[in-house]
Amino acid sequence: MMYEKMTLSTLPQLQERLNKLGLSLPLSEQVSLLGQPLTVGGFALSNRLAIQPMEGCDGAPDSSPGELTIRRYHRFAESGAGLIWFEATAVVPEGRANARQLMLTRENLGRYKQLLEDMRESSIKAYGFAPMILIQLTHSGRYSKPRGVPEPMAARHNAIYDKDNPLDDQRIVTDAYLETLPAQYAAAAKLAQEAGFDGADIKACHGYLINELLGAHTREGKYGGSYENRTRLYLDAVRAAKAAVSGDFILTTRINGYDGLPFPWGFGTSEGAVEEDLTESIRLIRTLHGELGMQLINLTIGNPYFNPHINRPYDDGPVPSPEHPLKGVARIVRCTQAIKAGVPGITLLSSGNSYLRALSPYLAAGMLEGNHADLIGYGREAFAYPTFARDLLTEGRMNPRASCLSCSKCSELMRGSTSGCPVRDSKVYAPLYVELKGKDKA
Ligand SMILES: Cc1cc2nc3c(=O)[nH]c(=O)nc-3n(C[C@H](O)[C@H](O)[C@H](O)COP(=O)(O)O)c2cc1C
Repeated sequence: MMYEKMTLSTLPQLQERLNKLGLSLPLSEQVSLLGQPLTVGGFALSNRLAIQPMEGCDGAPDSSPGELTIRRYHRFAESGAGLIWFEATAVVPEGRANARQLMLTRENLGRYKQLLEDMRESSIKAYGFAPMILIQLTHSGRYSKPRGVPEPMAARHNAIYDKDNPLDDQRIVTDAYLETLPAQYAAAAKLAQEAGFDGADIKACHGYLINELLGAHTREGKYGGSYENRTRLYLDAVRAAKAAVSGDFILTTRINGYDGLPFPWGFGTSEGAVEEDLTESIRLIRTLHGELGMQLINLTIGNPYFNPHINRPYDDGPVPSPEHPLKGVARIVRCTQAIKAGVPGITLLSSGNSYLRALSPYLAAGMLEGNHADLIGYGREAFAYPTFARDLLTEGRMNPRASCLSCSKCSELMRGSTSGCPVRDSKVYAPLYVELKGKDKA
């Protein structure tokens, strides 16, 4: 079934549609709340808007930012957002999601340094403040494609993922291999600090290695089965990274509260549960916050390879959304609200805001007003319309004609080319999209 496209343009229309669908979202017209400052660690953020990590698959041959990477981050720096969350950057070469995924090395560090300096300079020039810039550190696990073809390094066999394409046993990573990784996260975090990032994210979301381990109920040995075992690599990596950095460098994480998979095939669910059961997610984030001192958490859900409608509600895509996209928005909000309520004192960044386009500021303001989140993240919107933050903060509104259409073309590009928005940033990305489609047909 095809669901209606997002054509709503006013708050009362949105409210009416939510009522019809039996859904509820915290909505508020107090959009000025987005302009409030916030302190995280020792860093004073100028506003509540964040650009989510958005991978471009466009690194240079030495894994430093390539030409389009640099262009993207210049656009983000000119956005006016208080926080820019730099994209997935591999901690080891074999864990790259594509041949052009970024990776920090001693040799290429200077290129990252330069990019960060330029970003700060242009934001200060335009807005009088430097944004917080965090880097996402990742191992792609079962989605590793370091040479452009799949070379999975999975946490375990998964009856749902592997239904049509069973994995060889040798594709399951060994305990001995996992034991080596905390040191790699630590080394990458240390390099990130040297490069000038304000902090690093130990990525635990979207089906990648650490996230897959969190739900590895059926894995044998010290990294699977019990909660303690499934969280072992994650917590070891966080501890190792914490020990490797100094001063006010921020250690954070982007974590899946819920994978959108039934038990025992994912995290954030329990036997018999149809939707999320966040008991373990709350327990884990309490540990990260209470014991490991993490102040900021970027909450997300779902797996873009398997259930993109859960991760990034959309109107159009290669596979039609199996649910009304507003149901997806409501699920992300519900999970965010539950984590915020379950972990007192945490600073929470919300995800999945692009679908609502120019109506998203009402949700953003409602999340802040109701204390369901502290920062509001935008992913696809930042590709389409990087100055959404400036417009929102200065005019109190976003331009509907510049907004993301949630058409999934950026995700399509990511799977075979370099990602960006072929619709709103058409000069650069429309030709790449046409070329990709041509290749698909050939
Ligand atoms: C092309 C593309 C690349 C992405 N790259 C990353 C990434 O590097 N790291 C990450 O955590 N999420 C990544 N995401 C997910 C987004 O950060 C975000 O969670 C998702 O798009 C939903 O938010 P939105 O509705 O604001 O777009 C990516 C999404 C897209 C479409």
